[in-house]
This record gives sequence, C-alpha cells and structure tokens, in this order.
Amino acid sequence: MEKKDLDWGNIGFTYMPTDKRYVADYKDGEWGEGRLTADPMVVINECAGILQYCQEIFEGLKAYTTEDGSIVTFRPDLNAERMMDSAVRLEMPPFPKERFLEAVDAVVRENAAWVPPYGSGATLYLRPYMFATGPVIGVKPSMEYQFRLFATPVGPYFKGGAKPLTICVSDFDRAAPNGTGHVKAGLNYAMSLHASVTAHAAGYDENMFLDPGTRTFVEETGGANFLFVTGDGEVVTPKSDSILPSITRRSLVYVAEHYLGLKVTQRPVKLAELKDFAECGLCGTAAVISPVGKVVDHGQEICFPSGMEEMGPITKKLYDTLTGIQMGEIEAPEGWIRKI
Ligand code: PLP
Ligand code: COI
Repeated sequence: MEKKDLDWGNIGFTYMPTDKRYVADYKDGEWGEGRLTADPMVVINECAGILQYCQEIFEGLKAYTTEDGSIVTFRPDLNAERMMDSAVRLEMPPFPKERFLEAVDAVVRENAAWVPPYGSGATLYLRPYMFATGPVIGVKPSMEYQFRLFATPVGPYFKGGAKPLTICVSDFDRAAPNGTGHVKAGLNYAMSLHASVTAHAAGYDENMFLDPGTRTFVEETGGANFLFVTGDGEVVTPKSDSILPSITRRSLVYVAEHYLGLKVTQRPVKLAELKDFAECGLCGTAAVISPVGKVVDHGQEICFPSGMEEMGPITKKLYDTLTGIQMGEIEAPEGWIRKI
C-alpha cells in the first residue's frame, strides 16, 4: 500500500483531515449502526447539548507502524473503558467497548496510507469523541448523541521533541475537589485554555496544576501526568482523585517494575519535595514522555539535576522501553498490542 507523500519527520501536533472517519448516532435509547464517511463536517442543531452545556467526552490513542511493517494500536481497550467511565460521569450513554475497538480498527484500516512509516518519529493519532446532539434548553442531559472517531498523523506534542521543558506552577486550578478532573471531558480543557495561554505568554511550556483543595500537592499538566525519579532511581507518580488516570502512566509503572526492575511508588507528591527529585517527566499519549528540566514556582526555580539539555537517564530508559514495545522492537506484555 502506497503511503501519502508527507514529510513524516517534520509534522507537528496539528490536525490534518484523513480519508475516512467513523460515525454512530444514539437515538430513541439505543446506538445505531456505525458508518465510515469521507465527510469531516458535523451539522447539528443550534440548541444541541454540546453547544449549550458542553456535554462532550473524548479519548486519544495512537496507531504505529512496527519494525516488521504491521500496523498496531496500543491498549485501545483501556481507552474504551475510560471513555465508558467518562460517559457515566457526564450522564451520557456509554459507547460499547467492542464497538469502540471495531471503530478503531476500521478507521486505522481505512487510513492505512496515513499511518507514518516505522522509524519516522510520527504516529497516527486517533481521536474518539462523543457529544450531545439533541436540543436542550433547560440544564439536563440530551436525549441524542453522536460518537465519532477520526485519525490525523502527528509528530511530537512539544516543539523541540526531547528538549527538557520549563513548567510553571499555575495560579489557576484545573479541577475541583469531587469534580471532573479524573474524566476526559472537553470542559476540563476549555477551562485550562486561559491558564495555558497565560503560561505560554510568560515563556513557559506548560502549567503544573496543584491539588484544588489545599494547593500543596502536585496534580498534572493540562494534557499529561507527572512522573518523578528520586536520586536513588525510584520512580514516583502523583496519586490523586482529580487527575486523569493516564494509560501511558499506568503502562510506565508496569514497564518500570517489570522490565527495568525499578521501585515505583504512587502517592501524593508535595510541591515542597520537588527539589529532592533527580528527574521529572510528563507522560501521556500525545506527550509520550517529555522531560522537564525546570519548574518555576512564582519566581523560585526548581532545577532538576538532569538539566536542560537532555532526558534524565531513567526517563530515557522508560522512554526507550515504552516506545520499543509500541514499535514492536521489544516484546509487549500480553494484550497490550492490537494488530490491525
Ligand atoms: N492528563 C491529561 C489531562 C490528559 O489530557 C492526558 C491525555 O490523554 C493524560 C493525562 C495522559 O493520558 P494517556 O496516557 O491516557 O494519554
Ligand atoms: C492525549 O495525550 O491523547 C491527549 O488527549 C492530550 C491532549 C492535550 C492532546
């Protein structure tokens, strides 16, 4: 199969329409037959629940070309399950897991020419999402929904690829105690935009959000979880009820323990203890693992010993092992890789 003629090594994290996307509608209490379409446009009622009260959830996962030329996805079952959890929290009808997996397979298969070649550094990003299409004017859940899934080829989420990032401690909160911080709903991202534009304008790459209750513990960034490494090589990841349960982070915890023999602790992490860590990284589907060199807390700099030039040694091992598994260079744990 002939690949599209793109400069794969130089694409950014931007949207590019591909050949086919998947659509299914929910009406009269049930999900209808899904279909593939070439049309990227969505036409909905002016009073649709998504437009008035932001009833929307989404997911993000990637398809890869492996070393042997196969096309695979990474743990799509976990995206399907998380999306079902998000649906319950937003009073939406969960899209069944098996149908989610079939939709992923179909969209990747139809857009095989857009899956970046092995070794290019790019991947095919998949965006499943669901939104309220039915009209609502009183504040209540819609009676109708649409599930869609499109694909777009992407390069690194942060410009500069593996260059360590500078993060600032945000004055804004991303989530509320007992709110929606743990679900993947567009509303969490809408309210993070002002914080991220403010941080970028001040010269920072991203925000570090603190726990909304006490503002003393580290939560996450707008689009990735944190991961720290201590001076003696222990991996520490923040535990909180108001952060997104990252599939990348859960996979890295397994990789650290079972492939690299590292000790891993998942616990609340105080902002005050950042100065004691040797390495810091952001992890997520889009971010993969992006190293953090410096955190700035209201003018006070916390510089990790790994520095501003390259990834710390443990972060690099985690990165190489995870991407090695995704690209088929390293044997994956049972069930992690779904061949298309
Ligand atoms: N945290 C937030 C707020 C995110 O948007 C994402 C991206 O999906 C993550 C963490 C990382 O999650 P995952 O590894 O499942 O992509
Ligand atoms: C992802 O990593 O898939 C996300 O959804 C994060 C988003 C900020 C791009």
